[in-house]
Amino acid sequence: MSAISTNTNSFRRQTRTLSITSGKGGVGKTTVVANLATMLSRMGSNVLILDGDLGMANVDIMFGTRCKYSLKELLNGTRRIDEVITQIEPRTWLIPGGTGFQELQNLSEREKRILLDQMSSLKQHFDYMLIDTAPGIDNNVMYFNTSAQEIYVVVTPDPSSFADAYALIKVLHTYHHEKKFSIIANQVRDEQEGMAVFQRLSDVSQKFLFVSLDYLGCIPADVGVRRATKSQQIFVKSAPESLAAHAIKRISEKISTSQNPGQMKGGIQFFWEQLMGVA
Ligand SMILES: Nc1ncnc2c1ncn2[C@@H]1O[C@H](COP(=O)(O)OP(=O)(O)OP(=O)(O)O)[C@@H](O)[C@H]1O
Ligand SMILES: [Mg+2]
Repeated sequence: MSAISTNTNSFRRQTRTLSITSGKGGVGKTTVVANLATMLSRMGSNVLILDGDLGMANVDIMFGTRCKYSLKELLNGTRRIDEVITQIEPRTWLIPGGTGFQELQNLSEREKRILLDQMSSLKQHFDYMLIDTAPGIDNNVMYFNTSAQEIYVVVTPDPSSFADAYALIKVLHTYHHEKKFSIIANQVRDEQEGMAVFQRLSDVSQKFLFVSLDYLGCIPADVGVRRATKSQQIFVKSAPESLAAHAIKRISEKISTSQNPGQMKGGIQFFWEQLMGVA
C-alpha cells in the first residue's frame, strides 16, 4: 500500500461514515458503493471502502482484483491494517471483508482491542468511509448501519425490494432509534419511476413510523451496468457517458454538498468503537 500525502488540515476534517444497505439482496449495493467511491475520489476526496458483507464479500472482485487479506486476518491478529488495506485507485482504498464470520459483537475483548488499535494507527485521512453491507436485518448488518453516521438504503421498483426496504427501516428505527435515512432508487425505468418508488416508501414510513426519508436520487436500469459487473469494470470509468454514470455523478455531488450531520456519530474512530460496542 502506498502512503498518501498528509493534508495539513486533515486532523480537523472528520471522516464521513456512510453505510449503503438494503432489505433485499441483489438490488445493487456493491455496484453503487464501487461507483460512488470512484466518482467521489475523482471529485478530489479520499475514500475508504469497508466491505461489510461478511458472507459474500465481493467489492474487490468488482474492482477487478482479489485481495489477499481481509478484515478476518485483521481481527485474528495475523495481519496488520497496513497489510490488509489495499489501494485500488489513486484516491480509493479498500478494507476487504472476509467470509465465515461470527457475530461482530461476539468478538473477544482481545479481538476488539486489536481492531481498534489497528484502526487508530491508520495514518491516512479519509474524507469518506463507504460501508457495503450484506442485505437484510441480521445483527452484523445492524451493527454496521447503526455505527455509521449516515444510512443510505438502496431500493428498486420490485415490490419485494420495497417491502424489505420498509422492514429494514422499521427495524432500524424501532429497535435502534435511527431517524435519518437517505434513499437511492436503483434500476428504475426513468426519473419518474425513481421518484414514485421514493414517494411510496416515504409515505408509508411517515404514516406508520413517523420517519421522513431523504431522496438522494435514482439510477436507471442499464444493460451497460450489468455488462460492466460481468467484466469487472466500474461503469463510471468504462461508460462515463451512460445515463447510469451521470446518475452516479449527480448523487455524488449531492452527497458532497450535503451537510455533514455534525459531530453525532462522527469520525472513523467513533465508527469502530460503536461497531465493537465499546463506545
Ligand atoms: N442500475 C442497474 N442497471 C442494471 N443492472 C444493475 C444496476 N445496478 C445493479 N445491477 C446489477 O445487479 C446485479 C446485482 O448487483 P450488486 O451485486 O451490486 O447487488 P448487491 O445489492 O450488492 O447484491 P448482494 O445483496 O448480493 O450483495 C449485478 O449484476 C449488477 O450489475
Ligand atoms: Mg453486494
